[in-house]
Order: sequence, then structure tokens, then C-alpha cells
Amino acid sequence: KKLAVFVSGGGSNFRKIHEGCSDGSVNGDVVLLVTNKKDCGGAEYARSNGIPVLVFPKAKRESSDGLSPSELVDVLRKYGVEFVLLAGYLKLIPVELVQAFPKRILNIHPALLPAFGGKGLYGIRVHKAVLESGARYSGPTIHFVDEEYDTGRILAQSAVRVIANDTPEELAKRVLHEEHKLYVEVVAAICEERIKWREDGVPLIQSKE
Ligand code: GRF
Repeated sequence: KKLAVFVSGGGSNFRKIHEGCSDGSVNGDVVLLVTNKKDCGGAEYARSNGIPVLVFPKAKRESSDGLSPSELVDVLRKYGVEFVLLAGYLKLIPVELVQAFPKRILNIHPALLPAFGGKGLYGIRVHKAVLESGARYSGPTIHFVDEEYDTGRILAQSAVRVIANDTPEELAKRVLHEEHKLYVEVVAAICEERIKWREDGVPLIQSKE
């Protein structure tokens, strides 16, 4: 399956997914990297691995020659993209994109949605909120994307213990490690068409028979 990955930062999830495609554990091909930060780590990794990089959206001051949402959709279609994977992408996805790729856009959030999600709760702030709440578990959530932040149908989660005097950084590190594992497993399932939608709209991953 042809994949586009959207990042805004280091792109560690992107790199793990790309490694999975290279070592054969994921039957996918990352054909395009999209980022709003042209010099971020994810974009650097893409360039050094021959993956085309597209900046979207352009920064405010450069927005004159920036792509419109519908032009972005056209580019994704030109590359034959079948699934869009958000991985540390901090901008809201344009409604045109959500509508053009129904049930084909995934995001990973570093907490157990629906808790600890929504606009403004991203990065280290998520882990601070988890620690302040006294929650005993956190962990990554992978969900389909709709027009809002962090509210689409949940596809997969995994639990990470919160240790008594964890710092937000320590919790973030432990959750990120689990994100890498979970996202590669989920993208492998997506590429092998092992996602089934329950009649009540809940997506389920079928294990390999
Ligand atoms: C991760 O915590 C991810 O859950 C969130 O962005 C953070 C950075 O991810 N969406 P990455 O290292 O850029 O993949």
C-alpha cells in the first residue's frame, strides 16, 4: 500500500514505519513525507532516504505560494497515496483531506483517548496532565481522523504503566517506545487489509490467521 506520512518534528514514528517497510514487516511504501516544518528531523530523514518532501501548510509569511488544501489532495492522489499517517503532525487536517480520504487517515496520540486529548494537549503537556491526574496507566492511541483534533474512531491502544515519581520526560519516553511498536503493528495490519469495521462503527484489527 502507498503511504503518505505527515510530521512536524523528529519523526521517530515515521522512521520506524519506514524501517518496517524496508525490512518487510510492513507491506507498505512511504511515497511522500508532508510537513509544516521543512527543516524538521522527519524531513531530513526523508531527504536522506530519497522520499519526496512536501511542505504543508507553508508558514504564514510564505503562504503566498503555499498549496491550497485541494491542491494537497491532488498531490496525494498523484502519488497514488492510499493511506495518510499522521505522526507528530501538529496542524489540523483540512476538511477537504478528511473528506477525500474517508477511513484512510490515521493519527497517533501519546495518551489513552478520549482522556487527555484535544486541541492544546500535545507533546510534553499530555504527559504532565496524565501525571497530575494520578492516572496509573497511560499509553498510545491510534485513531482514524475526522474534522476535530483527536476525536476519530479509536483503532488501537496499548497500556504503559505510570511509575510513582515519573517525570513527564520519563513517561513521554516510555510511551514513545510503545508508540513505535503499536504504529508499526497497526500500519502492517492496514497494509494487509486486516481492518474490519463493526456494524456499530468501531474498527477492529484482525490478527494474522
Ligand atoms: C509523539 O509523542 C507522538 O505521539 C505525537 O508526536 C510526538 C512526536 O512523535 N503525535 P515523532 O517522534 O515526531 O514521531
